[in-house]
Amino acid sequence: MSNVRLSARLSRLTPSATTALSGKVAALKAQGINVISFGAGEPDFATPDAIKAAGIKAIETNQTKYTPIGGPAELRKAVAERVSADCGVTYTANQISVTNGAKEALFLAFLALCDEGDEVIIPAPYWVSYVDQAKIAGATPVIVETTPEQGFRMTAAQLAAAITPRTRVIMINSPSNPTGAVYSAAELRALADVVAKHPQIVVMTDEIYDAIVYTEYARWLRVAPELYNQTLVINGASKAFAMTGWRMGFVAGPQQIIDAIKGIQSHSTSHTSSITQAAALPAYDGSVDMASEVSRMVKAFRERRDIIGELLTSIPGVSLSMPDGAFYVFPDIRGLLGKPLACGVTCNTDDELAAALLEHAHIGVVSGSAFGAPGFIRMSYATSAELIREGMARFTKAVVG
Ligand SMILES: Cc1ncc(COP(=O)(O)O)c(C=O)c1O
Repeated sequence: MSNVRLSARLSRLTPSATTALSGKVAALKAQGINVISFGAGEPDFATPDAIKAAGIKAIETNQTKYTPIGGPAELRKAVAERVSADCGVTYTANQISVTNGAKEALFLAFLALCDEGDEVIIPAPYWVSYVDQAKIAGATPVIVETTPEQGFRMTAAQLAAAITPRTRVIMINSPSNPTGAVYSAAELRALADVVAKHPQIVVMTDEIYDAIVYTEYARWLRVAPELYNQTLVINGASKAFAMTGWRMGFVAGPQQIIDAIKGIQSHSTSHTSSITQAAALPAYDGSVDMASEVSRMVKAFRERRDIIGELLTSIPGVSLSMPDGAFYVFPDIRGLLGKPLACGVTCNTDDELAAALLEHAHIGVVSGSAFGAPGFIRMSYATSAELIREGMARFTKAVVG
């Protein structure tokens, strides 16, 4: 035992369930067991060639030195033009900071906006890091529970009821991880009408899955441009361009908040890798056409969603609110709990079901509890149709025989 004392801040954190699943899957695989994981939080496609080529060129031409804080002007300008076109408002290069993935963008934003005791409204089911990042920043997460009946989308009435004088931030994530839910324009409009009454609140709209939608996509600022000064747009290259490992995200927002974010960045990470920044540039400045690559990926995801959706709903005791975006399904498995399954065990919770599926069916799924929604599981279909069918056959056999 050492005398080293860890910071009190750490006691607030919850270990990541998705990382825990990866560890368990890896351990079983190391024992030679053929495990099919539905845990992946990233596209299974390769980074497009044009991006790889730009990265290689950056190395060969020695673009390997520090860049300005929050990215070079050229990249920030390209990103600003992209976000402006997407959102129907105007951002300049100075209103963008490029970060180590969207995750760092969110983290810096929480640090820039929240003081101890401030409240962050997070609709559940939620992406786990919102809660822990808000806590590290000293804020108190205020969880708003949503149900499959409401399509896992927070209503304006729920939002209004959750707001207090301490509310600093509202998280909106559409399409959502873990549910794949996508808000309609009317739903966003109703939320915006609530936010408009509270000028001290900032909405963080996490649009990281915006390229992967199977329905009409409504963007927060397109619906509520009058909330421009109260909005931070979070996005990045990870999911749209299959670049998770490169670490390229960004935040767009009012200059004052972006300057604050860059101030924290200047004392922490400075910027993401110069090579990553150079590689991402063609994806944002329009010099290569990414549309066909992206639509090929979305077509594959949609086919897989349909396959896994159909197989899941054919299991008695499982129901599914069909996702409209991202690459996750979030089935309701409450009908499987509390009774003996074909594999011989009775599970009383989603955690127990996830453990049983790993042990008896050798498939990896994440329990809904990890996303603030007990009674559900999250399955990523960012894997081949063949593995989806095989994994679902194992699932069905384990629960119904
Ligand atoms: C909803 C959501 N936001 C942000 C991120 C972070 O993305 P990045 O890899 O760019 O940091 C993820 C990654 O899984 C996510 O699911």
